[in-house]
Amino acid sequence: MSDGAGKAPTAFGRSDMAIHFNHTILSAHDSKASAIFLAEMLNLPAPRRWGPFQMVVTENGANLDYMDTDGEITPQHYAFLISEAEFDEIFGRIWDRKLSYWADPGRRQLGEINHHDGGRGVYFEDPNGHLLEIITRPYGSGGWNL
Ligand SMILES: [Fe+2]
Repeated sequence: MSDGAGKAPTAFGRSDMAIHFNHTILSAHDSKASAIFLAEMLNLPAPRRWGPFQMVVTENGANLDYMDTDGEITPQHYAFLISEAEFDEIFGRIWDRKLSYWADPGRRQLGEINHHDGGRGVYFEDPNGHLLEIITRPYGSGGWNL
């Protein structure tokens, strides 16, 4: 919802601040292998190590930083906006690696993709069980269905 100035109203009126999402940390049993998996699946630059992190950087400059843990991992969810051509490539890699995939985040629609917002979307897991999602249209871009 825009206020006419290009930005939605904030809790304090309208903000002129430029806030960019920068990074998140993903727990992994093997941070290097996990980062390589993500970079290969999405055809992103090879991961770089920084401190305890294996960093994967996306096109908009946001890092996914894998960090090793010996403990139990609570799966998180990460979604990537891609083009239709990239969907074909990434979905091909899902097939090549014989990965399970789902049309829904609840993982009930095994072996299916979705067509939300007039695009394509699918979910698959990284080596730690984190739920990765690729979408060709942003949520709500085809209209809200609530
Ligand atoms: Fe999602």
